[in-house]
Amino acid sequence: MTNEDIERVVLTEDEIQSKVAELGKRISEDYGDREPLLVGVLKGAFVLMADLSRRITVPVEFDFMAVASYGSSTRTSGVVRIIKDLDLEITDRHVVIVEDIVDSGLTLSYLMKNLRGRRPLSLEVCALMTKPEALRVPIDVRYHGFAIPPAFVVGYGLDWQQRYRNLPYVGTLKPHLYEGDGD
Ligand code: IMP
Repeated sequence: MTNEDIERVVLTEDEIQSKVAELGKRISEDYGDREPLLVGVLKGAFVLMADLSRRITVPVEFDFMAVASYGSSTRTSGVVRIIKDLDLEITDRHVVIVEDIVDSGLTLSYLMKNLRGRRPLSLEVCALMTKPEALRVPIDVRYHGFAIPPAFVVGYGLDWQQRYRNLPYVGTLKPHLYEGDGD
């Protein structure tokens, strides 16, 4: 049953779960015994990280970063603030950034630049969703789930004012719920 605030389901739970299984398999095959460090971008990636981690069959470590972007809650400004940095050193490690969604790409572009400066052996991106029509900077997403239309979505880690992250599917919100947001 769908939450009553959801207008339309964009990705079903089944679609997401089979894609996550596929991504986990690919990561396992690609890294073998090179023990990647998966870096989840909080808060949104915590759901994907939990599911993806259990589909990876090779040794792997986890860490998290929390970032906030200045701007309204439905749009990113590109100016990113690190709220929680990594606990682990990534120098000489194989790093995979795990993101729920790439919208303009500005957050990820900033993060990649920041992490590259710490000299990892490799740096790749796993993102469940991208919004190709909203992309403003080129981002190479090696482990890609779904390309979705540029509408604002919630669920599977994604929130609207901190709610709906726990929905097992991804959907658009009924417009009356977020109309009148900031800028
Ligand atoms: P970007 O910098 O524009 O790529 O935005 C990336 C971040 O904005 C994501 O990690 C999400 O936290 C948030 N975001 C982007 N699109 C959506 C959406 O449709 N719903 C909820 N959060 C979103």
